[in-house]
Amino acid sequence: MAELLPSLPLETRCPPLPLRRYNGFWLPESVLTELPAIHARLEPRPSDVFLASFPKSGTTWLKALAFATAHRATHPPSDAGHPLRRMNPHECVQFMEMDPELRRDTGSLLEEFAQLASPRVLATHLPYCLLPESITAGEGAAASRVVYVCRNPKDAFISYWEASMRRPKQVLFLEYERMLRDPEATVKKLAEFMGCGFSKEEEEGGVVDEIVKLCSLKELKNMEVNRSGGNQAGVRNDAYFRKGSSGDWRNHLTPEMARRLDKIVEEALHGSGFAF
Ligand code: A3P
Repeated sequence: MAELLPSLPLETRCPPLPLRRYNGFWLPESVLTELPAIHARLEPRPSDVFLASFPKSGTTWLKALAFATAHRATHPPSDAGHPLRRMNPHECVQFMEMDPELRRDTGSLLEEFAQLASPRVLATHLPYCLLPESITAGEGAAASRVVYVCRNPKDAFISYWEASMRRPKQVLFLEYERMLRDPEATVKKLAEFMGCGFSKEEEEGGVVDEIVKLCSLKELKNMEVNRSGGNQAGVRNDAYFRKGSSGDWRNHLTPEMARRLDKIVEEALHGSGFAF
């Protein structure tokens, strides 16, 4: 990869990270450099759940929901000391690729993951076709699972969606807009998919509602850790929580810009069978 990198198309208009186009996707150079190590050394477990997303499409929310759902036995969502009340969702669920902002070493990150207790919930911004085969090749009980969230409009998601059609037990495809419309149904679907569906008692006891509330934009946005904290690279935690609505683009894009974007999305989706 290090030899290939200089020959790949370069994009420097998205500071701070220079991007290179690889397999049709624009990715930070630093992530591409680390890709071979991730492929060679990440050891997925059958109980692993990988949360996959394009940036700005609901990653933080999905991390919070999946973490709260997977760990509800040890950390009931109503718990005053719940990790999500003192840690940003990105601290609770880490990205599996090296975090270029934090300049973390992939080797030590992978070692850290190896120490995590099952079920592990990890996240990635890698497109489906660049995930290690150890994640995408398996089937049935021995294979780990992938949850993908997309948000309109995005042109980098389609291979995830196709995969969810091909491997419905291993890949769950979520749409941010539908999550907004019915977060309770989303959490139930997520739990079922992760192999930890809610019992009747839990549902009647309001656990689903508690998880939805704990992970709601209002709740997370107002937590002290998310209002004041930030990571070592200077990215403030409050940057992850803005409006959390559908259709806010109308307030920012001119009709002409929206038309151009629609065209790009339409071309990207052409023939896929998927429509927003
Ligand atoms: P807006 O900028 O439209 O408000 P990501 O986490 O992938 O970077 O996505 C960020 C988007 O998700 C932001 O959208 C943010 O406000 C929204 N978001 C963050 N937390 C959320 C939550 N708990 N519920 C709903 N949306 C949330």
